[in-house]
Amino acid sequence: MLAKTHDNLHREVQWHCLPQGVLLNMNTLIIKVDEQKLKPEELESAAQLLREGGLVAFPTETVYGLGANALDASAARKIYEAKGRPSDNPLIVHISEVSDIEILARDIPEKAYELAKVFWPGPLTIILKKKDCVPYGTTGGLDTVAIRLPANLIARSLIAGSGVFVAAPSANISGKPSPTKAEHVIKDMSGKIDMIIDGGMATLGLESTIIDLSGNVPVILRPGCITKAMMENVIGPVEVDPVILSKNPDPSLAPKAPGMKYRHYAPEGKLTIYEGDTTRVIDAINHKAKEKLDSGKCVGIIATDETKALYQYGTVKTIGSRKDENSIAAGLYAILREFDELHMEYIYTESFADNSLGHAIMNRLLKAAGYRIVKME
Ligand code: TXA
Ligand code: MG
Repeated sequence: MLAKTHDNLHREVQWHCLPQGVLLNMNTLIIKVDEQKLKPEELESAAQLLREGGLVAFPTETVYGLGANALDASAARKIYEAKGRPSDNPLIVHISEVSDIEILARDIPEKAYELAKVFWPGPLTIILKKKDCVPYGTTGGLDTVAIRLPANLIARSLIAGSGVFVAAPSANISGKPSPTKAEHVIKDMSGKIDMIIDGGMATLGLESTIIDLSGNVPVILRPGCITKAMMENVIGPVEVDPVILSKNPDPSLAPKAPGMKYRHYAPEGKLTIYEGDTTRVIDAINHKAKEKLDSGKCVGIIATDETKALYQYGTVKTIGSRKDENSIAAGLYAILREFDELHMEYIYTESFADNSLGHAIMNRLLKAAGYRIVKME
């Protein structure tokens, strides 16, 4: 944290209302910004903090990011401390212009420009060979760098206004579900970082797709809203890291994205996925929920708009509508966090179709469940 930024603020008060709608929570400034009515000057103090090596959490269209100057190894190190993140897990560098990739990467293949033309700004991260200016402290010791040009206007104005490239992992404590609302960031990061920009809900709700273009064949390292088929339409054949396709935690497979090996997105309660015929899934979840409630446990159920009324036991919450997969992606992390707040000990969820966006949803859900899945015969 940058102590000097707060010298003129009232440190002794935990929650102190400052002028201009700025809040101070445990020495972390919180500013509210409306993406649709954004005035660049609103982000000037945040941009200055980044220039000075501070930590600023900001909204993106995927999830909230925890930003620092990507080319300043000591600023990047603070991200690892605030998140409690293993130091071999590299950070994504956020840029505001496509041409910025030439400053950060070398031997850039034509496919990178083709993907950027179609999907940037947006929820796609491209891995390229890094140039020397990118410190190993940002890339977790790798010779490659992950780069993303986000679509959220607050994120882009902040990056452009700061004049630095912004390393930003998801702004959660390591191992917790990624934050899709400012209140999630406030819960995890207050007192640990300099500023949180509250820009409302992250619209997509799942982290960006990661594609590795540093080798001979493009490989997806993390599924997301930009699907394999969407990218193949633009650049031809794309492979998928076998770890992503595996439905079991296979110790012989090492993921190419170091972050994918950690137990991620985990709620505190024990999450189990039920897969198969909907009626049988609902019956099985009702049965299991009653059994746990009878033994005095707290039970949460992740239902959909279509099935909510059919659950008889426990705390039932709807993640979204099966008619709109985007709503399920957007609701996933918030519902996991809500069940944590309620101290649910067991959480049961329906499963989702494992194709296109559903593939990314199931990837996160399986990890959150530690691959616990019950299949209906
Ligand atoms: O949507 C997103 O990508 C969000 C927002 C804030 O932009 N960021 C995000 O960052 O999800 P993070 O740190 O939570 O996830 C980054 C993932 C990790 O799994 C990491 O291992 C992988 O990207 N990664 C980063 N650089 C890499 C590299 N050079 N090679 C392989 N994997 C890399
Ligand atoms: Mg993350």
